[in-house]
Amino acid sequence: MLPGTLCNLSNIHDHTTTNLKQCGGTFLFKGPWFTNHNFLITSDPMNVHHITSKNFDNYIKGSEFYEIFEILGDGIFNTDSHKWKHNRNILHSLFRQNSFESLVVKTIHKKLHSCLVPLLNDVSESGTVVDLQDIFQRISFDNICSIVLGFDPKSLPNKLIEFPEVAFEKAFNMMEDVMFYRHIVPRFVWKLQKWLQIGRGKSYTECEKIIDQFLHQCISSTFQEKSKVNCTKDDDEPTFNMLKALVEESGMEQIDRKFLRDNALTLLAAGRDTISSSLSWFFWLVSTHPVVEAKILEEIRANFITKEEYWLITSRLENLNKLVYLHGALCEALRLFPAVPFEHKCAVKSDVLPSGHRVNANTIVIYSPYSMGRMEQIWGEDCLEFKPERWISEKGSIIHIPSYKFIAFNAGPRSCLGKNITFIQMKIIAIALLCNFQFEVVEGHNVSMCFYYSSHETWLEGQGY
Ligand code: HEM
Repeated sequence: MLPGTLCNLSNIHDHTTTNLKQCGGTFLFKGPWFTNHNFLITSDPMNVHHITSKNFDNYIKGSEFYEIFEILGDGIFNTDSHKWKHNRNILHSLFRQNSFESLVVKTIHKKLHSCLVPLLNDVSESGTVVDLQDIFQRISFDNICSIVLGFDPKSLPNKLIEFPEVAFEKAFNMMEDVMFYRHIVPRFVWKLQKWLQIGRGKSYTECEKIIDQFLHQCISSTFQEKSKVNCTKDDDEPTFNMLKALVEESGMEQIDRKFLRDNALTLLAAGRDTISSSLSWFFWLVSTHPVVEAKILEEIRANFITKEEYWLITSRLENLNKLVYLHGALCEALRLFPAVPFEHKCAVKSDVLPSGHRVNANTIVIYSPYSMGRMEQIWGEDCLEFKPERWISEKGSIIHIPSYKFIAFNAGPRSCLGKNITFIQMKIIAIALLCNFQFEVVEGHNVSMCFYYSSHETWLEGQGY
């Protein structure tokens, strides 16, 4: 099966979906005997419910996951049992703080006002073509860094100039590329590359250095700021950020720098590409479905009286909740193009899935949110259509779909902690941009879910590596 997968790398998610459909939703992937590259793949919602909730304790991230994502250390993504619980309890209490949601709203408004809207005005006036995905990655990166670290790397400019290269952001992109690569090639290959310091093995070591240096600076300045007594602050500067709150939550004396580093990096990874990729797909879908765009605008106009008002109005969460059609359109984008297209778990003990498939101890089990969003059994015959209406009940409210069917934010005890702030950010950006601009996709442009391929080596040389 490995050659077939390698030949279909550029459309791996569609290839997997076709195979899953042919096999009734679950199959065992067998790699060459010497690679130990075997795993069970499923898109059956009952299996997913079993794995994520009913028999949650039996399906852990495990040691292979830890090795692939080693750069995230002992952060919440990478840990199991009591270590995960400890991380989850602390982070959950931060996400619940009132000041957290208002920080998110304030941060996104500031970025929209000062950078994104002026930049797109420039683009529109000059009639230039821009890569919206790059722009969304930059705004999401600046936002999540401000929210988590209290530091804005300013990777998004406010006018049409050459976009700045932020070393930390570039290293971050590379880190994600390496993690994905490790999912595809057999373990011994990437391990050997790391040991010999060649190819992506070398890239890994170098991007780790850049990331660590940057995070340690941020952590040190948080400690310094905390220790300053009468420290004066700019009125405009938010007083809350997650790193600072983590230090406060755990008491400065005992807190471990590694805990801060690992969880801060995990939150940055959790909150950047997820939002930027979802926004990119959302805008692509809306631009290619003018009827949906018109309905979103109609709903916005019916709720917000003037165009200028949206700045003020979108800062009130109850106003955002009124936009049911917009919510449905965002859910559709997440259903068809989930930011986490596959999930990876390891069975502790042998088990039998509801579909009747046997899982031996230590087997890797993968479920595919991308394929699940394309299953007729879950979404009906029109499952490939972008149809916000499927989320809206006759009474006009949002239809609740169980998370083991709409799996974009995962399900069960390990479900996404950032789901609420994701919808807040995406709605505010969508409203601001759709009310001010009309987007057109460049004719003939190839749009697909693909790897992040870039000339990493060239960039690293420029950084002195
Ligand atoms: C479109 C946006 C997002 C999507 C689709 C998404 C999706 C997911 C998924 C699928 C998981 C489970 C991952 C796994 O167990 O392997 C997850 C976990 C998590 N997400 Fe999100 N996420 C999004 C945005 C965010 C944001 C903005 C944050 C906050 C900064 C966030 C924080 C987390 C955290 C902390 C976890 C770990 C939960 C745990 O393991 O207990 N996410 N997310």
